[in-house]
Amino acid sequence: MKLSIGLGVLATVTSVSAVKVNPLPAPRNITWGTSGPIPVKQLQLQTESHNPHILNTAFERAWNSITKIQWVPQAIEAPILNYPPVPTGIPKAKRDVKAIQTVQLSVVDSGADLQHGVDESYDLRVNENGIQIHAQTVWGAMHAFTTLQQLVISDGQGGLIIEEPVIIHDAPLYPHRGIMIDSGRNFISVPKILEQIDGLALSKMNVLHWHMDDAQSWPIQIRAYPEMTKDAYSLREQYSESDLRHVIAYGRARGVRIIPEIDMPGHASSGWKQVDPDIIACANSWWVDTALEPNPGQLDIMNNKTYEVVKNVYSELSDIFTDNFFHVGGDELQTTCYNFSRPTMEWLAEGPHTYNDLVQYWVDHAFPIFRNTTSNRRIMMWEDTALGPMSAHHVPTDVVLQAWDNAEAVANLTTRGYDVVVSSSNFLYLDCGRGGDVTNDPDYDVQSNPGGVNFNYGGNGGSWCAPYKTWQRIYDFDFTDNLTEAQTKHVIGAEAPLWSETVDDATVSTLVWPRAAALAELVWSGNRSPDGQKRTTLMTQRILNFREYLLANGVMAAPLTPKYCLQHPHACDLYRNQSIIQ
Ligand SMILES: *[C@@H]1O[C@H](CO)[C@@H](O)[C@H](O)[C@H]1NC(C)=O
Ligand SMILES: *[C@@H]1O[C@H](CO)[C@@H](O)[C@H](O)[C@H]1NC(C)=O
Ligand SMILES: *[C@@H]1O[C@H](CO)[C@@H](O)[C@H](O)[C@H]1NC(C)=O
Ligand SMILES: *[C@@H]1O[C@H](CO)[C@@H](O)[C@H](O)[C@H]1NC(C)=O
Ligand SMILES: *[C@@H]1O[C@H](CO)[C@@H](O)[C@H](O)[C@H]1NC(C)=O
Ligand SMILES: *[C@@H]1O[C@H](CO)[C@@H](O)[C@H](O)[C@H]1NC(C)=O
Ligand SMILES: *[C@@H]1O[C@H](CO)[C@@H](O)[C@H](O)[C@H]1NC(C)=O
Repeated sequence: MKLSIGLGVLATVTSVSAVKVNPLPAPRNITWGTSGPIPVKQLQLQTESHNPHILNTAFERAWNSITKIQWVPQAIEAPILNYPPVPTGIPKAKRDVKAIQTVQLSVVDSGADLQHGVDESYDLRVNENGIQIHAQTVWGAMHAFTTLQQLVISDGQGGLIIEEPVIIHDAPLYPHRGIMIDSGRNFISVPKILEQIDGLALSKMNVLHWHMDDAQSWPIQIRAYPEMTKDAYSLREQYSESDLRHVIAYGRARGVRIIPEIDMPGHASSGWKQVDPDIIACANSWWVDTALEPNPGQLDIMNNKTYEVVKNVYSELSDIFTDNFFHVGGDELQTTCYNFSRPTMEWLAEGPHTYNDLVQYWVDHAFPIFRNTTSNRRIMMWEDTALGPMSAHHVPTDVVLQAWDNAEAVANLTTRGYDVVVSSSNFLYLDCGRGGDVTNDPDYDVQSNPGGVNFNYGGNGGSWCAPYKTWQRIYDFDFTDNLTEAQTKHVIGAEAPLWSETVDDATVSTLVWPRAAALAELVWSGNRSPDGQKRTTLMTQRILNFREYLLANGVMAAPLTPKYCLQHPHACDLYRNQSIIQ
């Protein structure tokens, strides 16, 4: 399709626009015009060719959100040093400008599947003649719709406008952008999971990593082993197969991939032990340090039955989940746990074998099962299998490793040729700094305030990964800073995990949002202006505004400041000079 409609006079990218709209994540390239507001009415999607149904429903959803919410933003991107007056009210459209009613959409490859690395770029142009969207794939077009949702705002008199003509060229910096939720420590209901997907889609993230089970509970109904959900917390706190399919379809309709995680061989007890107690080493033995937290349990690597059960559970879930990525855990194996397994202790003594040999045995015997699928499977694991104190000698380099520990882990794994998802606990763990979860812990019986810069660091009244990660800490995380170009090529993106020891439906959304939106922008367009300056101060208005926008869309995001700071842009900045944050 030829896009040749003329534009109004355009400001340059770097100049400050007089518009209030300030979409999050900031587009890679946005150029506002200056010819004035354009009224918008009953937008219709027009395409040259047949549209996949999924695009029509995505557009309907965007339009419904626009008309229902009648958004009034507060998010002007004011320059920092001289605080210009904030435009009050929204300029009325000139009488002679006709309302635009069409969105012309062209998608180059409407068959491209939602999988890792799919092209998510889009171009969006708005002028007096209409709206044009050009995307390589359906998934890029969906991002254009969520941008459009933020561009079309209320004119204050019952109508809708776009403040100025605008051209946007947009594409993500990283292909893997997501959050991790944990429904093993505490149950998270399907509606709350869908709410997370809504937040991800609105902030243009594309991955929901679903850590489904843990040693404490097994919420997933498995046809091959119905007895596993005896270890669900209740009859209500379970996922049926149709629940799983519903979550996957809901995500797909919004461009969000669902990557399931079944944590193996560590963090495993509930569910598995109902099939056969012998496949779990060290059940009920936490008091001798067999696990980092109760409930203890690890799959017994030297029991043949383990592989039969793993195979049946994995292949059943593999048939349900549509993503090429499947996360098989692999974190935090504890050597002491295997003291409780006779076959493993015998094998270690007979060799003699080391604990690393034991992990290698797991890799050698479990990977053929994990690879045995019709899909183009990419196995994803936590870094530990290749880097932990108990780790395998050889982990195939096509495995995607999730680095939770620190920057050295990212450097180490990328040097060795692994594709890495950054989830450094120092920056991206959303659960940190809110106390511990084991009870009667004397660390909390402290009669003075520890104070100082390391306040509560390392567990003394905080949590193992204290402090709480603010949105600024997440946004300012330059996770490729000390990497070579070759290492950086192996960083495929980042995820912010939220472990759920102290999280369930009551708290999940306020802990994820709006902080995950700071990561969303970091991995979509970065944290610097074109001049190389950190744009944290400019991001402040964007994220305060976006928090309100999430709420308006039903995502229960936490407040970050008194609303006064939202309504008085930059009035709450500690420093006027943005360069204070570098
Ligand atoms: C941004 O887009 C405008 C308008 O299409 C274009 O003129 C400009 O070159 C682009 N800037 C960059 C840095 O790509
Ligand atoms: C486990 O399987 C291996 C080969 O697959 C076999 O050699 C061994 O005897 C089996 N062990 C038991 C206890 O069945
Ligand atoms: C576990 O077994 C190892 C190796 O036999 C031994 O050194 C260690 O003391 C045992 N730990 C416990 C808690 O029994
Ligand atoms: C691979 O899958 C096929 C078909 O389901 C099955 O017969 C075979 O045993 C599986 N092999 C492994 C190693 O899981
Ligand atoms: C990665 O870490 C391991 C374990 O600390 C170390 O033995 C290895 O040399 C490191 N490799 C690189 C490339 O840094
Ligand atoms: C990069 O290295 C410097 C100097 O060692 C360190 O202060 C900084 O924290 C590192 N950045 C990251 C993201 O690891
Ligand atoms: C802002 O801060 C930077 C670095 O702290 C400094 O170099 C610059 O001169 C300051 N700008 C103004 C206008 O004060």
